[in-house]
Amino acid sequence: MRRKFIAGNWKMFNGPKATSEFLNKFDAEIKAAPEVQKAVADGKEEIAFFVPAVSLLTAVCGAKEMPVIIGAQNTHWEKSGAFTGEISVPMITEIGATHVLIGHSERRHIFREIDEELNKKVHAAVEGGLTAVLCVGETLEERESGKAFEVIKRQFVEGLKGMEGKTVAEKVIVAYEPVWAIGTGKTASDADAEEICKFIRGLAAESYCAKTADELIVLYGGSVKPENTKGIISQPDIDGVLVGGASLKPESFIQIVKNAL
Ligand code: G3P
Repeated sequence: MRRKFIAGNWKMFNGPKATSEFLNKFDAEIKAAPEVQKAVADGKEEIAFFVPAVSLLTAVCGAKEMPVIIGAQNTHWEKSGAFTGEISVPMITEIGATHVLIGHSERRHIFREIDEELNKKVHAAVEGGLTAVLCVGETLEERESGKAFEVIKRQFVEGLKGMEGKTVAEKVIVAYEPVWAIGTGKTASDADAEEICKFIRGLAAESYCAKTADELIVLYGGSVKPENTKGIISQPDIDGVLVGGASLKPESFIQIVKNAL
């Protein structure tokens, strides 16, 4: 039975002060939700926040007594070096964060990150002890021209090149985020999201084996809100959600966490 993974991606919101305030409020929400505490304690659900690099330390310290995971939004593949503005896996682990997003569509499209670099990042993350959340997703143009499956396959295969199935099952999470559904209010229908997440699981079976496919955690992201969480999460191949806008309010995000139970 795969665990559920409910994650907030704060993007470029919440500096250290706002992070601290958010976590205090979210802590109160969790304390008032015994069903959430139980699900996390039983290993059935994980809750994570991917926070800006400058807020990582505050988040890790603030969440010390909370049942939440803290992750970074990006990493370089080198451990150190002349890479102005970048952070590395050893820096992230030194702070105490355990997860990292790789290849979010904003990194792919605004910062022009390519599959080859993302593959190096996944390797660096996993070798350094982090869980890598590899994001994949097609643009509207790609979907409308019938290329969605081809694009997802390329991003999955290239992004995970050279990884062993066991490592993928244990240390990689794949998040399907159609670019046209991110921050637009347009959620993919439950059936559309399931179709691609099932396809991703099929790619894991093809690239590795049935066991890896069965164990792989696959998320959906794109305009997830409390109201559409139940429909999305009830799909057989969707194990969780990666939430942008609605993760910035503790009262909305806890509702998503509860609706995913
Ligand atoms: O990584 C989460 C994401 O890109 C979706 O953002 O605001 O549409 O939930 P949003």
